[in-house]
Amino acid sequence: MLYAFIVTAVVGVLLPAHNALTTNMTKNLKVLVSSNDYPSSGLDVLREHFTVVQSPYCNFGEEGANENKAELLKLIPGSSALVWISHHPITKELLDKAGPQLKIVSTASAGYNHCNVPELKARGIKLSNTPNVLSSAVAEIAVGLILGAARRFTENLDQVRRGEWENGFNKVLGQDVRGSTVGIVGLGGIGQATVKRLSGFEVGKFLYTGHREKPEAKALNAEFTSLDNLLEQSDFIVLAVPLTDETRHMINSTTLGKMKKNAILVNVGRGDLVDQEALYEALKNKNIYAAGLDVTTPEPLPKDHKLLTLPNLFVLPHIGSATLRTRSDMAVLASNNVVNALTGKPLITPVLP
Ligand code: DGY
Repeated sequence: MLYAFIVTAVVGVLLPAHNALTTNMTKNLKVLVSSNDYPSSGLDVLREHFTVVQSPYCNFGEEGANENKAELLKLIPGSSALVWISHHPITKELLDKAGPQLKIVSTASAGYNHCNVPELKARGIKLSNTPNVLSSAVAEIAVGLILGAARRFTENLDQVRRGEWENGFNKVLGQDVRGSTVGIVGLGGIGQATVKRLSGFEVGKFLYTGHREKPEAKALNAEFTSLDNLLEQSDFIVLAVPLTDETRHMINSTTLGKMKKNAILVNVGRGDLVDQEALYEALKNKNIYAAGLDVTTPEPLPKDHKLLTLPNLFVLPHIGSATLRTRSDMAVLASNNVVNALTGKPLITPVLP
C-alpha cells in the first residue's frame, strides 16, 4: 500500500516534469505550416511543442503556385518539419532551401503522389500522410457520385435550371444500384468504407481487385478477381487506389473497351488514374453509360473543358475529404506525426518511416 503510494507520488511529480522538460527542449524547433487555412485543431497540437511559422497565403490554386511558392522558399530555412497542405508538388528547390535539419514532411492528405518521395528518401527525410481518418468522408462522396451518375444528376439539374423539364413515364430514366455488380478497384480504407455504405442498397455482388486478397473482404462479402474480370462484369466501377507509376492511366481506351455498355465509372482517387481523352470518347460515343468524378486532370478543370459538355458526366471539385470534422481530424493526425518525428517516436501513419 505504502509502496503503491510512493510510486504514484513519484510518477505524479516526475512525469509532468519530464513532459515539461521534453516540451522545453522542442520549443526551439521550427515547424513550417504551408497554408493559411490549416485547421486550428492542428495548429494547437503543434504550438504546444514547437515554434510554429505559418504561411500567410493559401497553398492551393494560383496563390499556391505563385505568391505562396515564393513565400515558402523564404520561410523554410531552418525548419525541422514541413506540414504540407496542398496537392502542389514539393520541389527539390524547397527541400534545398530548408537545410539539413529538416526531419519530416507531413502531408495532410492520404495521397502522397505530390510529395516527391524519391527525393525525400534520398535525403533521409521522413514522410507521413493521413489515411483512414478520411475514408468515411471520401466513401460518402463515392456513393454520391454513383447516385449522381446513375440517376443523371447533371442532365436533370440542367433541366431544372433551364426550367424545361422533360416529362413522361419514360423520360430521364437512370440505372438502379439495387441488384447491380459493384467493382472496387483497391479495397483499402476508402474502398472498404464504400462497400459498407453501399451494403444497404441491395447490391447484387461486390467484386474487388488489387495486389492481393484482403482479409477484410470476407466480412464485406466482396469477391477477389482480376482487373479484367472486374471491368467485364461490373455495372459500377469505383477507383479507390493511389496514383503510382503502375496505376497512372489504368483506365484507358483498352480498359474502357472491356466495360459493359451500361457501366458507370467513379473516380475518388486521382485524376491521372484515367486517360481523360479516352474517357471523353467512351462517354460521347455511349460506349459506357456515365462517369462520376471527384478528381480530374487538371484541377480545377477549365470551365470550357470538353468533358464538361457531356451530359453523362457528373463531376465534383475534389471534395472527397472536405468536411469540417474530417479536415480537422486530418490536421490533428498530420500534426501528431510531426510531434512523434521530432520527439523520437515512430510515426503514426508513416509513408517513409
Ligand atoms: C487525399 O487526402 O488524398 C484527398 O484526395 C484529399 O486531398
